[in-house]
Amino acid sequence: MTTPSIELKPTSTPAQAAEREAILASPGFGRHFTDHMVTIRWTEGRGWHDGQLVPYGPFSLDPATTVLHYAQEIFEGLKAYRQPDGSVALFRPEANARRFQSSARRMAMPELPVETFIEACDALVAQDIDWVPAHGGEESLYLRPFMIATEVGLGVKPANEYLFAVIASPAGAYFPGGVRPVSIWLSEDRVRAVPGGMGDAKTGGNYAASLLAQAEAAAKGCDQVAYLDAVEHKWVEELGGMNLYFVYGDKIITPELTGSLLAGITRDSLLSVARDLGYTSEERRVSIDQWQADTENGTLTEVFACGTAAVITPVGTVKSARGEWAQSGGEPGEVTMKLRDALLDIQRGVAADPHGWMHRL
Ligand code: PLP
Ligand code: COI
Repeated sequence: MTTPSIELKPTSTPAQAAEREAILASPGFGRHFTDHMVTIRWTEGRGWHDGQLVPYGPFSLDPATTVLHYAQEIFEGLKAYRQPDGSVALFRPEANARRFQSSARRMAMPELPVETFIEACDALVAQDIDWVPAHGGEESLYLRPFMIATEVGLGVKPANEYLFAVIASPAGAYFPGGVRPVSIWLSEDRVRAVPGGMGDAKTGGNYAASLLAQAEAAAKGCDQVAYLDAVEHKWVEELGGMNLYFVYGDKIITPELTGSLLAGITRDSLLSVARDLGYTSEERRVSIDQWQADTENGTLTEVFACGTAAVITPVGTVKSARGEWAQSGGEPGEVTMKLRDALLDIQRGVAADPHGWMHRL
């Protein structure tokens, strides 16, 4: 595997400071992008080459480019946080790099070396460092590495050319309104992923597959959809863009990785953060019947969703064809908020980092 170096070509006119500060005051999620991006090409026989840090801007693609037809695409999401001393650190970029390799294998794409993935993220953040929001709040710089198949032609086969890129976007709260409990539509018929499919790959097709159910949930007044397994329609898997946790007093449980849900890095981090805080954490199957019954009998005290973009978001209401119930009285639960604060404190550099997760530029 070749490891290309990234050539610096930062020739754009950076956003004016006043314009940037206005955006950083209220960034939203995924609406504004920084001044630059990194691109690296892969060609069969040559491997990875032409790593460049260039002005942010459109790609020109032939209409017959394979990604436009057969969706051979993968992506990642990770965040850079301003530290108390003004420096910047990325949260677990190596974990994202490894998941990117695993998604690439599933989608018959070339694997980008872990060190190149991290170097590309570092180079972009270093160049556009003024876009990293100030220390103190929950804002961060969200990085979106992705790879597309760029071969031109309509044959259905793994492409012989790819483009890897990283773009960056200042991020505030993923859900408008900050930390408030979200409502969940429990889909008992539409599924997100099937055994042997690509549910554990971070590929655009999984998100395309989730949009209709998401629109149906919105029509029912819900923020998000929770998916069940595709075989028995019984076991809780995850949301369209977040994993789930169930809080039983001082034990937290997350659905085990079956191959049809995404191995979230926030999910994985919380298994450790919970233990650090004296809770027990466990991965196992949770059925929809258990979710409803244990809420009703009071043993299931809180439910929350977690992911890079949304951090930790309490679940307030669950609606399904079988009825509707409130989770922890519709309020953010105590354990949920303790875990949220503990994770954010590590990310913002105000708590110790016992697992060595923060990667300083
Ligand atoms: N599940 C899905 C389908 C996602 O898109 C995401 C977001 O990345 C997650 C779970 C959470 O993963 P992570 O914590 O790595 O962001
Ligand atoms: C993330 O949390 O990084 C995601 O990818 C979720 C969503 C924005 C697709």
